[in-house]
Amino acid sequence: MKFFIDTANLNDIKEANDMGILDGVTTNPSLMAKEGITGEQNILDHYMAICNIVDGPVSAEVISTDYEGMVREGEHLASLHKNIVVKIPMIPEGIKAIKYFSGKGIKTNCTLIFSAGQALLAAKAGATYISPFLGRLDDVSTNGLDLIAQIRLIYDNYMFDTQILAASVRHPMHIINCAEIGSDVMTGPLSAIKALAKHPLTDIGLQQFLADHAKGNK
Ligand code: G3P
Repeated sequence: MKFFIDTANLNDIKEANDMGILDGVTTNPSLMAKEGITGEQNILDHYMAICNIVDGPVSAEVISTDYEGMVREGEHLASLHKNIVVKIPMIPEGIKAIKYFSGKGIKTNCTLIFSAGQALLAAKAGATYISPFLGRLDDVSTNGLDLIAQIRLIYDNYMFDTQILAASVRHPMHIINCAEIGSDVMTGPLSAIKALAKHPLTDIGLQQFLADHAKGNK
């Protein structure tokens, strides 16, 4: 399973990249705003800064909601760097735009996926990735993991190339469950990624090893 980090924070991106396990980055307008990145040029510069840290797909989201606007914005975003993936919302105009980009060989990430039907449409349009929002479904008492499993079954039935990018991942168990289901990619915060490494028995065991080494080398 590929690991993407879901943030626009350059320090977090660097830290995850330095761990050697990072495959890509996802951003969205809220994450950009959270880092105080506003204004078209600053946003574009920020995407470039991310691309200069990570050698992997970087999702950059369009703001337009009409087909022509999405195509115009997406083409510009894609021209910035070879690793940019154009992130497009799951709306009817977005499906048209995904089909257009797919014909041009431009990679897309169809975002705001909350149902299997939406995932099926995005795959038929040729999306490179689809982003089902796991945590936000959990927030409304609906099992987000069930949706990932349902999409996995559908995509396998028809051998769709579209990759399932589990998004809105909130904690380490989400990551482990996504790996069990066979999600192609997960994107989550640095905290969830780092939490995978934690185990109290590892800490206790290491403490004991170091203490025993110190005793024997007095
Ligand atoms: O990748 C989608 C993600 O940014 C949404 O996460 O935690 O706001 O639901 P969250």
